Amino acid sequence: MLHRNLSSVLIAASLLFPSACLFAQAAPSEQHREMPKPTNLQILPKDISTKDLMAVMHDFTGDLGVHCTFCHEVNAQTHRPDFASDAKPEKAAARVMMRMTHEINTKYLAELPQHEHAEGTEHEGRVSCSTCHQGHPEPPKFTPAPEEHHGPPPAAPAK
Ligand code: HEC
Ligand code: HEC
Repeated sequence: MLHRNLSSVLIAASLLFPSACLFAQAAPSEQHREMPKPTNLQILPKDISTKDLMAVMHDFTGDLGVHCTFCHEVNAQTHRPDFASDAKPEKAAARVMMRMTHEINTKYLAELPQHEHAEGTEHEGRVSCSTCHQGHPEPPKFTPAPEEHHGPPPAAPAK
């Protein structure tokens, strides 16, 4: 799936977003035909290709179950999204989430002894936006089945 001469840019992007590589290969080019060069990237590599950037953005919409304008301000005059604008708090939240997800993967999961995923090769088991969000803007609450929460666990092994 990965090219032999994988650029460091793509490695950086794929570390942040595990499935970016897969999506980058599959994304139809028509979706980013008219996309101008990004001018306000603070987390992603500034020289990221349009294809890789769109792969990341499409992961966001899928992982959160939202449209682009959930995070991106729509210009009142043109009625088109102003992707460089930082007007929406959701975009700021997404940047915090990008940093957090990166840190979970590179700092905490990397500390686990069974963590054996070399950079840019195998991404299974890494945390992504979908791990928590599961297709929702706010991660769904998990409610254990009634029989599973009768109070603190017993001192002796159950049964
Ligand atoms: C969950 C929030 C979120 C969603 C949904 C989202 N984006 Fe983004 N987008 C961001 C963030 C955050 C950045 C800035 C990343 C950075 O600072 O490195 C960004 C940056 C961009 C940029 C670069 C703008 C510039 O000039 O700097 C483009 C273009 C873009 N997004 C397009 C899209 C498209 C198209 C979609 C829908 C397919 C989309 N985005 C969906 C959060 C989102
Ligand atoms: C470890 C779990 C976790 C991961 C991973 C995660 N998020 Fe979140 N995210 C949350 C929680 C919890 C909230 C707070 C929801 C609330 O306000 O109730 C949140 C909130 C958000 C919000 C604000 C939603 C709103 O309604 O305003 C955005 C946008 C967002 N996350 C985007 C992302 C993106 C993009 C990624 C991947 C780069 C990501 N998240 C990864 C747990 C996570």
